[in-house]
Parts: sequence; C-alpha cells; structure tokens
Amino acid sequence: MRVAAYVSAVMLTCAWCVLSEPRLEVPMTLVRNASHQEALCLDGSSPAYHLHRGFGAGAGNWLLQFEGGGWCNDLESCFQRAGTRRGSTRYMSKFEVFSGILSNNASLNPDFYNWNRVKLRYCDGASFAGDAKFDNGTSILYFRGQKIWQAIINDLLPKGLSKAKKALLSGCSAGGLASFLHCDNFTSFLPQNASVKCLSDAGFFLDEKDISLNHSMRAFYEELIALQGVEKNLHENCTSSLHYPHLCFFPQYALEFIKTPFFILNSAYDVYQVKFSMFIALNLLSCTLRCNMML
Ligand SMILES: *[C@@H]1O[C@H](CO)[C@@H](O)[C@H](O)[C@H]1NC(C)=O
Ligand SMILES: *[C@@H]1O[C@H](CO)[C@@H](O)[C@H](O)[C@H]1NC(C)=O
Ligand SMILES: *[C@@H]1O[C@H](CO)[C@@H](O)[C@H](O)[C@H]1NC(C)=O
Ligand SMILES: *[C@@H]1O[C@H](CO)[C@@H](O)[C@H](O)[C@H]1NC(C)=O
Ligand SMILES: *[C@@H]1O[C@H](CO)[C@@H](O)[C@H](O)[C@H]1NC(C)=O
Ligand SMILES: *[C@@H]1O[C@H](CO)[C@@H](O)[C@H](O)[C@H]1NC(C)=O
Ligand SMILES: *[C@@H]1O[C@H](CO)[C@@H](O)[C@H](O)[C@H]1NC(C)=O
Repeated sequence: MRVAAYVSAVMLTCAWCVLSEPRLEVPMTLVRNASHQEALCLDGSSPAYHLHRGFGAGAGNWLLQFEGGGWCNDLESCFQRAGTRRGSTRYMSKFEVFSGILSNNASLNPDFYNWNRVKLRYCDGASFAGDAKFDNGTSILYFRGQKIWQAIINDLLPKGLSKAKKALLSGCSAGGLASFLHCDNFTSFLPQNASVKCLSDAGFFLDEKDISLNHSMRAFYEELIALQGVEKNLHENCTSSLHYPHLCFFPQYALEFIKTPFFILNSAYDVYQVKFSMFIALNLLSCTLRCNMML
C-alpha cells in the first residue's frame, strides 16, 4: 500500500504529465530488424516506440521522449522486470496516450503540438545505456539499452529525423537520465544546421551521501553499471577525465562535457531523491533499494 501511495506522489514530480481531452491514443511501432541489431528488451522481445506525425510548420521538427521507470541492478530484479511492461514489449500497452508535451492540442502544448512526437518505450532497465547479456544455459537476460537507442534512431532517421530542422531529446525520471546520457549522441545523427536541444525532467539524480553517510545511490548505480555493461557507453570525454569513469552516469559529472544546449527541470525537493538518495537509511518504504525501483 505504501509503495502505491509513493508511486502516485512521484508521478506528480514529473511536469507535463497532465491529462487532456479528448485523449490522443498513438499506436506502438515495433522496431524493424531489431534482432539483427541485437536491440532487444530484457526478455528478448523487440523494442518499440510510438510516433505521431507532425504537420504544418512543425512537420520538419522532432521531439523524442524517453519513457521512465526506474532501473534493475541485479539478476533477481531484472528477471522480475523482464516479466512486466518495464522489461518486455509483450506486456506493454499497445497504445499510449499522448498528453502534456506530447499533446497535439495547440492550446495545451503550444510549442510542440505540430512537431513529430515520439515516445521511446523503456524495456532495458538501465536508462537505455547498457550493452551486455546474461546467459547461464537455462535463463537469458538481454541488457541492450544502448542498442535499443541506436535501433530506434536508425528506424526514425529515414522517417524524416535525418532531415530535422529542430529537435528536442527529452525524458522524465530514468528517461530524464537517459536524455543526459544520449544528448550529444543524438546531435551526431542530425544535420549540422539543425537546432538540437535536450531536456531532462526529474532526471538529475544526485551522487550524495544519505543521512547515514552512505553513498546508497552510488552503490546502487555501481551494481547496475557492472551488471548491464554501461560504462563503455558513457560520454567518452567525461570517462577519460574522471578517475572513476563510471561516475559519468551521474549528470553532475557528465554535464560539463555535454556540448548540446540542455534544459534541466528538477524540483529542489524531488520526492524520489529525498526518499531514496538521502533518507534511504530511515527505511521509510516497505521496499529497499534492492527492490526493483519503481520510478
Ligand atoms: C535487416 O538487417 C539485415 C542484416 O543486417 C539487412 O541485410 C537488411 O537490409 C535489414 N533490413 C531492413 C529493412 O533494414
Ligand atoms: C484543446 O484543449 C482545450 C483546453 O482544454 C479544449 O478546450 C479544446 O477542446 C481542445 N481542442 C481539441 C481539438 O481537442
Ligand atoms: C540460471 O540463472 C537463473 C536465474 O538466476 C537460475 O534460476 C537458474 O537456476 C540458473 N541456472 C543454472 C544452470 O545455473
Ligand atoms: C540545412 O541545410 C539543408 C541543405 O542545405 C537545407 O535543405 C535545410 O533547409 C537546412 N536546414 C535549416 C534548419 O536551415
Ligand atoms: C553514438 O552511439 C553509437 C552507439 O549507439 C556509436 O556507434 C556512435 O559512435 C556514437 N556517436 C558519437 C558521436 O558518439
Ligand atoms: C570530445 O572532445 C573533443 C575535443 O574537444 C571533441 O572533438 C569531441 O567532439 C568530444 N566528443 C564528444 C562526444 O563530445
Ligand atoms: C552503510 O554502509 C555500511 C557499509 O556498507 C553498511 O554496513 C551499513 O549497514 C550502511 N548503513 C545503513 C544505515 O544502511
């Protein structure tokens, strides 16, 4: 019960999660040729996105949004996740409601309503940044977030992304972290004269001590990075500058190396960070960091 209450409180920390009327429901597109590119969800299913085409003056512009949904940092939590909508497109809704920044209603979403708008579904558990595989002969897990990112971009480029005039890479929570991790890589696929920017909504996860003076969040991410093979996909100019390259997973270290203009939206008292990054030791929740984090 406590966990459910917490999840709904957390939803409020993401701006633009406002419902509009009438609802715009956009069908899922499975990534073509996913297995040839080794781009697979945790359970081996094909990754997916939802695309709603732009029109009029926005037809040449692209807004991409990474879906959020926490992380899995050990085999147990990743196997559990692989059997849910967070780790498999088999269990995902095949239609997504496009509201807030994804809405096509000019009065609700004046800046982006006529852009091409894409929601990238999250099914890897490492903010689209892992590249590894677990296979012990009886069970397999695919940690292919980086390849999913690449495959979705490959799918969108011929649909018009390669000729974008303006583009914005965004995301909320774990998806907001993904927009830090992939911002400059996104720019590299777009025309040199395009205007490209990135936006992270509630994705600035801090490397800080909690009240018991432990680096709980860092420890959690270290397990995640090792399990899912994330380090090699972090910003190379950051990893080559830090003594502990894996820390480039944290925006506070990576940000200074990101060249693309970046908008950061984060509440000073973000519900998730107050509970998980700082007060973890109080055991406020019936769930610990070991659990599959829900956000
Ligand atoms: C799928 O991948 C194969 C092997 O890489 C390639 O030959 C083929 O052209 C690809 N098909 C599409 C539709 O991209
Ligand atoms: C757009 O949103 C406004 C404000 O909620 C609403 O009055 C209007 O009916 C919506 N327009 C369309 C086409 O849905
Ligand atoms: C493989 O890993 C799974 C999950 O950890 C475990 O349940 C299973 O017993 C393992 N199989 C072997 C042969 O070790
Ligand atoms: C970028 O350059 C191409 C080729 O010259 C041109 O077609 C396109 O309109 C330009 N885009 C922008 C945003 O200026
Ligand atoms: C972007 O990421 C892909 C892998 O997903 C990599 O092959 C490519 O070199 C990266 N580009 C840049 C400019 O970092
Ligand atoms: C890393 O820094 C070099 C030198 O400043 C620059 O040429 C390169 O584009 C940077 N790489 C990325 C991914 O930003
Ligand atoms: C803090 O970390 C130490 C060392 O890992 C551990 O033994 C201790 O239980 C942690 N304290 C809390 C309150 O989690």
